[in-house]
Amino acid sequence: MTPLDHGKSMRDFWDQKARENAMYYISSYRAYDQQDPEEFWKWGGILAERFLGESGCRFTGNEAMLEIGCGVGRMTKYFAGRFRHVTGVDVSAEMIRQARENLAGFDNVRLDVGNGSDLSVYPDASFDFVFSYIVFQHIPDTKVTLGYIREAGRVLRPGGSFYFQVNTMPRVARLRAALGKAKRALLKPKPESVDGSGPRDLDHPAWQGSRVTMDEVGSAARAAGMRIEKIEGEGTQYTWVLARR
Ligand SMILES: C[S@@+](CC[C@H](N)C(=O)[O-])C[C@H]1O[C@@H](n2cnc3c(N)ncnc32)[C@H](O)[C@@H]1O
Repeated sequence: MTPLDHGKSMRDFWDQKARENAMYYISSYRAYDQQDPEEFWKWGGILAERFLGESGCRFTGNEAMLEIGCGVGRMTKYFAGRFRHVTGVDVSAEMIRQARENLAGFDNVRLDVGNGSDLSVYPDASFDFVFSYIVFQHIPDTKVTLGYIREAGRVLRPGGSFYFQVNTMPRVARLRAALGKAKRALLKPKPESVDGSGPRDLDHPAWQGSRVTMDEVGSAARAAGMRIEKIEGEGTQYTWVLARR
């Protein structure tokens, strides 16, 4: 697949999911038909604040930041109050359409539909901070994820930071987790919705995504002139990495 094919396949999937039930596919915390917008937005703020704190970065508030895979703006809204300027980019035009609606009136936010594989619309050294959460874990081709890491290094100013989550769970642990999940579902099926409708296409490559190794992440970061300063949760789905330019 060429990067363009990849972008189209991811865009088609996420556009459809955004139209179907954006809140569920962003945060599958609640059952499919029991989304609570108030809770969704509250948690966007709570998580964003938590992750900024856990990054260990010191912010003055004067930074320009970039969020890769911003979705409908769940965390972008919080970031807008913390940074001088926030750019959110997402492969899905429908997610960005909803994000623009949700963040209308925020004059320090720019929301862009990206091509799903690079950050080529942004000049070199144009951001102080780049962030991404539960995005790379859904990207089917690790080359795309590693390309994004190199791109983040390119668009960061010297001294800037990239704080992001990737899935580094090894194959054996993944199989064990999948077996455990199937067993729990058999013993106690989760009622996804009252009318029997529920999440669909969860076997799609753009949902299943891929896993990277920390060696691959380290090489991509170094190739872009960054050094890894912190790794948390290595070997799990929620591996957090802080890389500094
Ligand atoms: C689970 S949602 C998370 C959204 C947001 N990060 C949040 O936590 O609220 C994943 C998002 O990543 C976006 N996405 C998936 N693949 C992408 C890619 N290759 N490039 C940019 N965004 C992508 C999807 O469109 C979707 O909005």
